[in-house]
Amino acid sequence: MFCQTISSGLHTKGLYTAFRLIDLPYSEIEIALFNIIVNRIGEALENISLFEELKKQNINLQKEIIERKKTEKEKKILQVKLELAKRMESIELLVGGVAHDLNNILCPLVGYPQLIRMKLKNNIPIDREIEIIEKAALRASNEVKDLATISRKSAYPKKSVNLNAAIEEYFTSATMIEYEEKYPDVKIIKKLDKDIKNISGSMPHLTKLIMNLVCNAYEFMPEGGELTITTSSVKVDKTIYGYEDILPGNYSLLKITDNGSGISESDIIRIFEPYYTKKIHSMTGSGLGLWVVYGIVKEHNALIDVNSENRNGSVFNIYFPALEQEEEETKDSRNIKSIRGTEKILVIDDEIELRTFLSDALKQLNYDVYVAENGRAAVKFLSEQSVNLIILDMIMENDFDGLDTYREILRIHPEQKAIISSGFSVNERIEETLKLGASQFLKKPYTIMELGEAIRNGLDK
Ligand SMILES: Nc1ncnc2c1ncn2[C@@H]1O[C@H](COP(=O)(O)OP(=O)(O)OP(=O)(O)O)[C@@H](O)[C@H]1O
Ligand SMILES: [Mg+2]
Repeated sequence: MFCQTISSGLHTKGLYTAFRLIDLPYSEIEIALFNIIVNRIGEALENISLFEELKKQNINLQKEIIERKKTEKEKKILQVKLELAKRMESIELLVGGVAHDLNNILCPLVGYPQLIRMKLKNNIPIDREIEIIEKAALRASNEVKDLATISRKSAYPKKSVNLNAAIEEYFTSATMIEYEEKYPDVKIIKKLDKDIKNISGSMPHLTKLIMNLVCNAYEFMPEGGELTITTSSVKVDKTIYGYEDILPGNYSLLKITDNGSGISESDIIRIFEPYYTKKIHSMTGSGLGLWVVYGIVKEHNALIDVNSENRNGSVFNIYFPALEQEEEETKDSRNIKSIRGTEKILVIDDEIELRTFLSDALKQLNYDVYVAENGRAAVKFLSEQSVNLIILDMIMENDFDGLDTYREILRIHPEQKAIISSGFSVNERIEETLKLGASQFLKKPYTIMELGEAIRNGLDK
């Protein structure tokens, strides 16, 4: 049966004929068996190449699946980043509005105590109470500045500062001393590059940023651990795709590392949101710490990268653009005497409290003061007479703001000296007013000294 099957095979005949032709001494059965082996080898070889092909296809398929998963993940990350950016933007808008309104309210509160003191001369018994009002008002105005920092509607003054100096300043603060005592098992390691390049920054805000990051590191290592603060000069050649994309450039890097509880992948995307906190009852967290950090980072044109894994500690990297040239520090050398004057000044503001405050303050400094309750009233006033300088509020009536007012006034008095003021920080319309000739932008709220200096600078220009 077996022999029959093989001897009837197609190949057998050909092979038999071939063997016979070259006269090899093999029997028919041997040739048939040989043929079967050859056939099987052929099949096996075919199977091998088929298998190789399948393997190749499988690898390609796997690659495609991995690629798809990767793009899906990237898409998801992008979507979350976008949502986060949108949420932050709406919060910033809200906070910016609140900060603007509060700044207007705070203006007389910050300015009046100094004015009252000037009127009362020195050593009068109510001086202490005035000092309390003044301190509270200044504190409130600093808090509002923080809010405005978040909303990025405030440009606080910046100068050339050194990150190491900011760290050292924070390390001598009461908060740091308190934390060192509270967490004796946390070891502090400082690796500060003494040649680090300065950055353009605000010292109080930088120490606040360091404080919030260091406090978090302490608080999330309740059993103890290592808290490392590093500064270094970094040149980024290729974009680092981190929490934020770190673009090529020269940076002064602040790195704060802990080996505490770490942050999970799902939490990390939310940590900069206001009121997001994972602190338990015994820790008094409001969830604003990192929100403030984020605002300060943005206000410094810096970039942030966070790396953390659950139970594996956290690393916060903040890339501050490095200053190439040392900026000159501006020195506050003026005194009250030097800000006095007798020139004619027109105050244009739609808020009565502001008009009254400015009028009182400038009269105290000996100026000849006039007021206008809006831009149109100012234009009318100046069509009849002239003044040496105008103090112009930016946001007044919708259809006739500070810029519109200044344009009209310049038609009547092309050389009119002006100062522009607002509770918001510099925007396009303020920039335009400055371009037209206003000497300075005065951010509300301001002290008498700041007001007086702006006026004198404007007049003496
Ligand atoms: N170093 C860290 N280690 C682990 N988790 C952290 C760290 N830093 C921040 N987080 C997480 O981010 C959340 C938000 O931090 P954030 O500083 O904004 O608020 P908070 O520390 O909870 O409260 P607050 O700072 O207002 O006292 C924390 O609750 C925590 O879940
Ligand atoms: Mg915190």
